[in-house]
Amino acid sequence: MRLALEIVEAVKPAARWAGMLILYRHTPVGPGYGIEESLKLAESLAQAGVDILDISPASCEAPGDRAAPLMALGVPVIAVNELDRLPRALEALQMGRASLVAVGGGMIADPDWPEKVRSGRLEEIVACTGCNDCYTDLCEGRPVGCSQWVGGVCP
Ligand SMILES: Cc1cc2nc3c(=O)[nH]c(=O)nc-3n(C[C@H](O)[C@H](O)[C@H](O)COP(=O)(O)O)c2cc1C
Ligand code: SF4
Repeated sequence: MRLALEIVEAVKPAARWAGMLILYRHTPVGPGYGIEESLKLAESLAQAGVDILDISPASCEAPGDRAAPLMALGVPVIAVNELDRLPRALEALQMGRASLVAVGGGMIADPDWPEKVRSGRLEEIVACTGCNDCYTDLCEGRPVGCSQWVGGVCP
């Protein structure tokens, strides 16, 4: 917590000067800590001036469930994990488990995902299958690609 708060304090003057938001990305359940500790951390981060909490789950049973406990802090909370699947994203938002949803693999598979969703062209979306090939690329030092790109070319 001390490291996190010192980082926030260090970047805050420049962020405020530039009119930028401070986003803090946190995994809410990890080795040796859980939601209770994460809530204490998030509360302190919010008090220190963090504008958005970006909650990247290690696992996720219901859409946004790991983000939901942090929604009481008065700071917008971002949920992620297979939220490129619209029913999951809508469930997270409509159930009040998150203020915003993030899309990871879905944006690698199809960088036009937001525009296609916005304009209702859902059948044109190149969907992420969750195969993890892109992450393997990253770990093995290759440029990140997607198994769903036809001919290996980004759509
Ligand atoms: C290629 C790749 C790199 C990632 N790198 C990070 C990272 O550096 N830090 C992080 O918190 N999450 C990272 N993630 C996890 C994503 O933030 C996200 O939690 C995960 O992909 C689940 O969301 P999705 O179902 O929309 O892909 C990465 C994911 C992918 C596919
Ligand atoms: S490589 Fe697999 S996990 Fe990565 S974006 Fe493409 S389909 Fe999704």
